[in-house]
Amino acid sequence: MAVFPIRTFGDPVLNTVAQPVETFDAALERLIEDMLETMYAAPGVGLAGPQIGIARRVFVYDIGEGPGHMVNPELVETSGEWEFDEGCLSVPERFWPIVRPSYARIEGVAMDGSPLELEGDELMGRMLQHEFDHLDGTLLLERLGKRERKTALRDLRREALGIALPE
Ligand code: NI
Repeated sequence: MAVFPIRTFGDPVLNTVAQPVETFDAALERLIEDMLETMYAAPGVGLAGPQIGIARRVFVYDIGEGPGHMVNPELVETSGEWEFDEGCLSVPERFWPIVRPSYARIEGVAMDGSPLELEGDELMGRMLQHEFDHLDGTLLLERLGKRERKTALRDLRREALGIALPE
């Protein structure tokens, strides 16, 4: 098993639409194990392929109920509304109150290619939507309101350039 460096804001792989997984083999199994180890080391509750530079449609998670994974997911249903202080390992140490549907259901396959369905409310629903977004090259910043997003992007760009922020 191995811990990978996590790609952060500004890395183009985070804005890339990931490709479906086509080969269900030992390498995929190892990738998922490594992703889980990387997620636990961070620590985080979810991690998607692009976050370690693998532009494939796979994510892992653990919202406190044990590890899980999902390959080639489709977001098939959402409902309700829930505000949550959402963060992302690729935009470290920042949280924004973001409103999204509370419930989400995702259909895809497991690492052995068998059908897999995941669903849940609140934290589970949020994690599913957040990780699914990563596979389409979408960061949580895209889910902010227009003004908030502008401020967040400005701060992150300044930070990336090493420019001190005004007090
Ligand atoms: Ni994230």
